[in-house]
Amino acid sequence: MTSLPDYRYDPEAYEIEERSRPDEMMMLSGAEAAASEWLSGCHDAHALDLCCGTGLSMRCLVEHPNVASVVGVDNSEPYLKYARTSLQDRRISPRFVLADAATVGSNELGRETWDIIMMASAYHHIEDHRKVLFLRRVHQFLGASGRAVMAENILPSYSDDDPGSYRRAVERFYASVLRTARHDNPALPTHVAQLIERVAQYGYDGDYEYKVCMPILLRDLAAAALEVVSIRKVWPETNELGDDAGNFVLLLRRLDLAREQA
Ligand SMILES: C[S@@+](CC[C@H](N)C(=O)[O-])C[C@H]1O[C@@H](n2cnc3c(N)ncnc32)[C@H](O)[C@@H]1O
Repeated sequence: MTSLPDYRYDPEAYEIEERSRPDEMMMLSGAEAAASEWLSGCHDAHALDLCCGTGLSMRCLVEHPNVASVVGVDNSEPYLKYARTSLQDRRISPRFVLADAATVGSNELGRETWDIIMMASAYHHIEDHRKVLFLRRVHQFLGASGRAVMAENILPSYSDDDPGSYRRAVERFYASVLRTARHDNPALPTHVAQLIERVAQYGYDGDYEYKVCMPILLRDLAAAALEVVSIRKVWPETNELGDDAGNFVLLLRRLDLAREQA
């Protein structure tokens, strides 16, 4: 049991937690930049956001002039309700689907394939044993020339068969997250710091948060036949977590089609 405040069923608390974290805001900006760059060459693009949450990762999609439709998928009714309100009166009115992102079907989404798929802090919310299933669904939904934007928190390396080393990696990651948040805002309220600690606690407990290190992410992408077109580290600016840990934005495409086009 923890006495930390929780955000899991509380979209307002989630938004406060996210907006107080420069590392997350940098990652969302990086994802928006990658999506906008890709969309600049598209016309009437159809956009899908898997694990869209309160809609933070959909903002660039609903405003982009080259986007014709946006669908957001999440399994939290309160988060979707919040997203519906916060994204009303935008250029595009998104449609929201309450579903499991790892198993949602094209019949529920209303389309077979998509020009852009956003996955911001999505993969690390899918349990480890379903991660490849989730990524294969992304592969299935990507159109021939489509791209997926993945924004992910990547832990420092740990031993897959050593739970203690996993927990130390989670602690190290969130010590850096809190250091950055306090550097940006020396008056960070205790309640907000505790919301950030709650995210760490979920990761530590292996509940709701299932973050991995870079070799595991790359292995899962390969298993789902998704090719990394580009990868950019957006946080931290220092090397305190090592080269391959921190927050990353990846642009992905279907590996089989990449080979055919080569
Ligand atoms: C960290 S939030 C990310 C939200 C948004 N993409 C963003 O960047 O702010 C993760 C979201 O994944 C959702 N989620 C967790 N497991 C899910 C699943 N199996 N299917 C669909 N959504 C899920 C949660 O409800 C939550 O809204």
